[in-house]
Amino acid sequence: MKGHADIAIIGGSGVYDVSLFDNIRQIEVDTPFGKPSDSITVGDFGEKKVCFLPRHGTGHRVSPTNLNSRANIFALKKLGVKQIIAASAVGSLKEDIKPQDIVIPYQIYDRTKIRPSTFFDQDIVVHTGFADPFCSGMSKLLHKIAIANGYNSHPEGTYVCIEGPQFSTRAESNVYRSLGFDIIGMTAIPEAKLAREAEICYSTIATVTDYDVWHEEDVTMETIIANVIKNEKAVRTIIHQALESLDIEQDCECRHALDGAIMTDSEMISY
Ligand code: ADE
Repeated sequence: MKGHADIAIIGGSGVYDVSLFDNIRQIEVDTPFGKPSDSITVGDFGEKKVCFLPRHGTGHRVSPTNLNSRANIFALKKLGVKQIIAASAVGSLKEDIKPQDIVIPYQIYDRTKIRPSTFFDQDIVVHTGFADPFCSGMSKLLHKIAIANGYNSHPEGTYVCIEGPQFSTRAESNVYRSLGFDIIGMTAIPEAKLAREAEICYSTIATVTDYDVWHEEDVTMETIIANVIKNEKAVRTIIHQALESLDIEQDCECRHALDGAIMTDSEMISY
């Protein structure tokens, strides 16, 4: 199946503009971890092969906890993907990061609890480096494009990923603030971990929808949905220009994440 796609976009349907692509088709992909969230839309963007996966399935049916991220990332790897641009809605933990701003996070703090977060849990032990969870080259490009288009983009935010599906308590939100975290969401983990294990460059365009619960007003789905819709044009613009600029041939350390990471004796490994 390799050769179908070089670059993947993961996000809601509003972040991807079908009119930009030629030769569009839907592909059903199966993986050893089951089926991805939905069929994958594949198309050509000039010379580049691009695909789109709606993270929560059509109609937003899968909750963050129940996302089969292993199937999602495995399916993208199977199609040949080398770079993933993930779009996600987040809450802000800082006054100067406002709803409708953009954050290109550079760190994650993992507060998830019950999500399978590795491909390597059967007969093989692999410890990949994850000190820098996002691809720095891609993240710099995304921030540069966002700024060039006049968006209020913040580079280098720390994203605390909670289990959900409930929003945080006020006590939790205040603790995250006191720890200096910038944004809060429910989807970066385990996607980023699995992309690293799959040796795929991974970066997130986080669009701010609310001030979580530490601010004057509490977070509501109504506010989030209204701001998700307002943020869609920005995300589409950034993705479009990133697709023009990304160099799929450029080597990157994300693509060598398994070098030296496998602990299990090589004679014991049955691929
Ligand atoms: N996604 C959007 N806003 C959020 C928030 N306040 N907490 C967790 N995830 C979110």
